Amino acid sequence: MSSDAPFQHLIESPELGEVVVGEAELQGRVRELGAEITRDYAGRAPLLIGVLKGAMTFMTDLARSIALPVEIDFMAVSSYGNATRTSGVVRIVKDLDIDLTGRDVLIVEDIVDSGLTLSYLRRTLAARGAKSLEVCALLVREGLQKTDDELRYVGFRIPPKFVVGYGLDFAERYRNLPYVCTFEGEAD
Ligand code: IMP
Ligand code: MG
Repeated sequence: MSSDAPFQHLIESPELGEVVVGEAELQGRVRELGAEITRDYAGRAPLLIGVLKGAMTFMTDLARSIALPVEIDFMAVSSYGNATRTSGVVRIVKDLDIDLTGRDVLIVEDIVDSGLTLSYLRRTLAARGAKSLEVCALLVREGLQKTDDELRYVGFRIPPKFVVGYGLDFAERYRNLPYVCTFEGEAD
């Protein structure tokens, strides 16, 4: 019996397609990333900044895989545009509570598509006096972003298809799926 069984009714939704990253694969890779971050930041207390809401699931799993005294904060940004595309114009909807001065900051993102959201966040946070600023992205959609070198940690590179699950949504749905799969429904 698969652990996906309780989600069978969702799996059978005609809006959902193939599984892109399965639950076990996600859990294994997140543990690897956590171990890597633990080694890289040994002796320090990194501040993890999650970008709401998509990064919520990744953040909670990643934080539990880092054996360091991490601190956690969240930011919410909204991009002007339709549901499945980013316009590149980003607005901060919820700002940070923790001061970045002198901190080792690690931005935790669900997915990098065009990279525009991330560029904006990097620019904004870089101006706030952090000691270091790196990015950990669970997913990177292949072929679209110009500045891949900005991504210190990447979970998976995925094909150019819209995906949901493990925090990622379509119109606020499917964030609770324990795996990542394609969304095949009507975009607008
Ligand atoms: P970018 O600015 O084009 O890199 O878009 C990044 C943001 O768009 C992510 O943080 C997500 O919130 C959203 N996004 C991009 N692709 C997907 C997807 O396939 N599924 C769900 N959300 C996505
Ligand atoms: Mg989103």
